[in-house]
Amino acid sequence: MTPVWDWTGKVALVTGGASGIGAATALAFAERGGDVIVADVDGDGGGAVAARAREHGVRAEFVECSVAAEDSVRQLLEVVRERFGRLDFAVNNAGVEQRRAGVTECTEDNWDRTIDTNLKGVWLSMKYEIPLFGPDGGGIVNMSSMVGLVGVPGAPAYVASKHGIIGLTKSAALEVADSGIRVNAVCPGNIRTPMVERVLAREPAKETEYTANTPLRRIGTPEEVANAVLWLCAPEAGFVTGHALSVDGGVVAK
Ligand SMILES: NC(=O)c1ccc[n+]([C@@H]2O[C@H](COP(=O)([O-])OP(=O)(O)OC[C@H]3O[C@@H](n4cnc5c(N)ncnc54)[C@H](O)[C@@H]3O)[C@@H](O)[C@H]2O)c1
Repeated sequence: MTPVWDWTGKVALVTGGASGIGAATALAFAERGGDVIVADVDGDGGGAVAARAREHGVRAEFVECSVAAEDSVRQLLEVVRERFGRLDFAVNNAGVEQRRAGVTECTEDNWDRTIDTNLKGVWLSMKYEIPLFGPDGGGIVNMSSMVGLVGVPGAPAYVASKHGIIGLTKSAALEVADSGIRVNAVCPGNIRTPMVERVLAREPAKETEYTANTPLRRIGTPEEVANAVLWLCAPEAGFVTGHALSVDGGVVAK
């Protein structure tokens, strides 16, 4: 990936930064000179991503945090304030796949676990991130999904969480527009990350199904999603807010 933007001196927080799309995004910021905070429940993975980010000569730290718990998110942003002073960008990416179950089979625990991380986690993150932005504003990008735009059977909590993120993104965008903070969402299609690898390990036939269902006939890469996140944060997207950007090889265009 060729560096385009120079984010030297800027500070970016990436939740769920230990793996997959979050790791690619954290490293993409660092590659362009940005300081990065990697927040995740996975200490080993998060520490490794922060170490790789520092190889680009930037400040990068891992902070253990569960976005599903308010105290944990409050403490994360307190650490960010103490060590980095402010935020310029926040990527609310932490998420879990739902244990497969339809509307009538889904348990309350399955529902709550999915919604608490994927949807409540984005709200809690923004609640404590927004006060840390400076007078020049900045960018927040929330990780939705192509199933934030269309339904699929067998994952009602996941689909609801990702639709909810788009509504939350629009609400927040309107609330903070006067502060110069732009808030957008990204809607990835099938992207080759550990989350998708776990699905493919259980159901190998899905690989052919995903490819056949995608007009561009392939599974995407985490870096392709990171590129979209960075564009939404960049000055080139300075008039874009409250938007949900598909990065899905054309799936929802059908
Ligand atoms: N991979 C895809 O095809 C795809 C498609 C659409 C949307 N997404 C979304 O992209 C985001 C990243 O997914 P990925 O594919 O990179 O998955 P991944 O499993 O590789 O990474 C998710 C990360 O989130 C972390 N996480 C989970 N619960 C957390 C919590 N409570 N607090 C903090 N961190 C937590 C995990 O430890 C992990 O590091 C998710 O929100 C996912 O729903 C992924």
